[in-house]
Amino acid sequence: METKILKVDPLNPEDDLMNIAVGILKNKELVAFPTETVYGLGAAGLISEAVEKIFIAKNRPQDNPLILHVCSIEMVEQIAEDISTDARKLMNEFWPGPLTIIFKRKANVPDVITAGLDTVAIRMPDNKIALKLIEKLGMPIAAPSANTSGKPSPTCAKDVYEDMKGRIPLIIDGGDARVGLESTVVDLSKGNAMILRPGEITIDDLKKYFERVELDPALLDGREIKKPIAPGQKYRHYAPKAEMILFTYSDDMTSRINKKYDELTNQGKKVGILTVDENLGKYDANIIFSLGTEKDLKTVAHNLFKSIREIDNLGVDVILCEGVKEDGIGLAIMNRLKKSSGGNIA
Ligand code: TXA
Ligand code: MG
Repeated sequence: METKILKVDPLNPEDDLMNIAVGILKNKELVAFPTETVYGLGAAGLISEAVEKIFIAKNRPQDNPLILHVCSIEMVEQIAEDISTDARKLMNEFWPGPLTIIFKRKANVPDVITAGLDTVAIRMPDNKIALKLIEKLGMPIAAPSANTSGKPSPTCAKDVYEDMKGRIPLIIDGGDARVGLESTVVDLSKGNAMILRPGEITIDDLKKYFERVELDPALLDGREIKKPIAPGQKYRHYAPKAEMILFTYSDDMTSRINKKYDELTNQGKKVGILTVDENLGKYDANIIFSLGTEKDLKTVAHNLFKSIREIDNLGVDVILCEGVKEDGIGLAIMNRLKKSSGGNIA
């Protein structure tokens, strides 16, 4: 299958170009498209035969449920049951935006979306191309991140192409994804709010609306992955081809990394370092990438997956990666890095 890349204006998506993409979705084929978080691999969300192709293209385990993307609250009402006032508050406040909410499903949601659960994950992306695609299709779009299962999520069309070339007919290129990490996933079904996957919308953001905001216990330790509530969280994720070692944030972090760097290069290994602007001068390494300034972790989040792919594509044996403080969006960054490293934490 030939994979075409279609450049679309992210601020004012061209109707004729969007119609090409919608035609493919109506034909039950897949289209990769930009969202504000990462690129999604989209299928017509209420048609099982279309959604099944997502699992094949990504090589995704069948028991990992998908998010349905909507363009209006009416669309949520068509697929979700018992929408609580709390859920309505969050939708009003954060949508369109990087927050996925777990609802009780209606019967028209295909089993292949929910992996047999009685709940469905829904979000409204903050991206004009994504919203127009959903609106023109006239139904929710099912979309996981558009990477091969297990790899870092793609934040630009080129990274989607690297994984999906020959597997899907179309990639819409709408430029770089703003956030760079997947949406925060929150479950309200137990009365309070439980974060199943951290993202740009933080615990503190949600605390304005709930007395208690809990974290899925499975998130607290990336090494031992216990029984997670979000089924997708149990799989190896975001992993480069190279071995990756994550160094927890501390005052002596850079000297710990330097020591490891010397040890590995002495063994003849090709080693890359992922750092921040403030620490660039503290290493004497040939392959070194800065993720941005530690004073603005949103920039670090934005660059994270892209940089992991770039450094990996240089053919390094080992990536040594700095950790960040687990505050605010730092929690989401560390959640992804713990998984990228497969729990290889120093
Ligand atoms: O930002 C995002 O959320 C991106 C863009 C494309 O929208 N999508 C994304 O999808 O990250 P995916 O499939 O890579 O991750 C969806 C996560 C998985 O961890 C999955 O297990 C969880 O949401 N999930 C889906 N349905 C669920 C449900 N009914 N209950 C609990 N967790 C669910
Ligand atoms: Mg994913």
